[in-house]
Amino acid sequence: MEFSSCITRDHNTLDPNVYLIKQWQTWSGGLHRVLCMQGGDDDFSYAKNSEAPASAIALCKPLLLNSIQSVKLFFHAKKEAVDSIRIADLGCATGHNTLVTIDMIVQSLRQKYVTMCGFEPEFEVFFSDLPSNDFNSLFQSLSSRQFSDQQQQYYAAGVPGSFYNRLFAKGKLHIAVSLSALHWLSKIPETVLDKRSPAWNKGRVWIEGSKIEVVEAFAKQAEKDLDDFLRCRKEEIVQGGMLFILMGGRPGLQPPQNQLEDPDSRAKHPFTITMDQAWQDLLNEGLIDEETRDGFNIPAYMRGIEEVERAIKRCGGFEIKMIEYKRIMEEKREEWIKDPVSYGRAKANLVRATLRPIVQAHLGPHLSDQLFNRFQLRVSSDFTLLHKTCFYGVIVVCAIRI
Ligand SMILES: C[S@@+](CC[C@H](N)C(=O)[O-])C[C@H]1O[C@@H](n2cnc3c(N)ncnc32)[C@H](O)[C@@H]1O
Repeated sequence: MEFSSCITRDHNTLDPNVYLIKQWQTWSGGLHRVLCMQGGDDDFSYAKNSEAPASAIALCKPLLLNSIQSVKLFFHAKKEAVDSIRIADLGCATGHNTLVTIDMIVQSLRQKYVTMCGFEPEFEVFFSDLPSNDFNSLFQSLSSRQFSDQQQQYYAAGVPGSFYNRLFAKGKLHIAVSLSALHWLSKIPETVLDKRSPAWNKGRVWIEGSKIEVVEAFAKQAEKDLDDFLRCRKEEIVQGGMLFILMGGRPGLQPPQNQLEDPDSRAKHPFTITMDQAWQDLLNEGLIDEETRDGFNIPAYMRGIEEVERAIKRCGGFEIKMIEYKRIMEEKREEWIKDPVSYGRAKANLVRATLRPIVQAHLGPHLSDQLFNRFQLRVSSDFTLLHKTCFYGVIVVCAIRI
């Protein structure tokens, strides 16, 4: 993605580095063109800053393995094993998480076939993400691992595209997983960026703490997106196949306006207060104008269990085998308390790894660096943050295609 083509300089400002952002121009080709995790493997990359999703996967590993054990065998006798078992990871990003997850699934299925049928089927794995994902980094990690393996674990392919659209032919997949990805929406609801709308999200870049109209606009978009996702997977997953989802979410009793449950988690969450303050810093320093700040929103929504259950029922064709809410605790708190500067850097790197591509598409490279620097400064100088114990919530679902 060529970001610079979307950015125009503001010649009226005093600071020559200020970029005036044309929000609608930048994302007019669709959020799917700019949304991705930061590629590569430097300190700001997703590959180096994906501990939180890794913790979520580790916590949910027993649920995933149990779910796989309950899936029917797709081929029963060796002579029928002419086909392969096809697995897709939707929203795979880069780094270790997708590889670790796929290893877990392949090993568990292989073991099941050896024990129950006396043979090992072949496996095909489809790593799927938006076209802006750094597939090169992913494939490099994959090839270095496979090179050192004695045995070919599976045949791998990349599938670029949005999981809100069809990605595979009818009945192609036996197992589809999507980990820490479905809370990303396909777009920012138009009304939250529209000055004339009651849902205009003025002064904030996310939903937490916003007006009910803003929350409703995000909730509506999230509902449509999940419907689209399920409709596509219903076509693509073979009967008896499994859909396993882990996504950012809320527990049952929390209304959508309370995306993050308790006040400590809210204060520490990288999308909320400190992030709004960092944007306000740029505004106060005259580096951006209000329109620029108000033109940016983070396209994410934490669904509640009921919202997910309702969507699966509305879609039909799936039987829910398990649906749970789980809390992922923030790690290393004791370590960070001793070193607030490293804490600020680690938090800012995490936010850069996740948001930099979309912030950069909005602000340009220079200002986006300024924003993350302000964020880092604020986090490392706020000692109250360090002493808060926080967590974030995920919803885990296993559904079988019937
Ligand atoms: C936080 S990362 C999670 C990556 C990996 N599954 C893990 O657990 O570490 C979320 C991923 O979802 C991808 N994503 C977001 N929206 C998507 C969409 N509509 N279609 C496909 N992938 C999407 C992002 O590009 C990103 O790579």
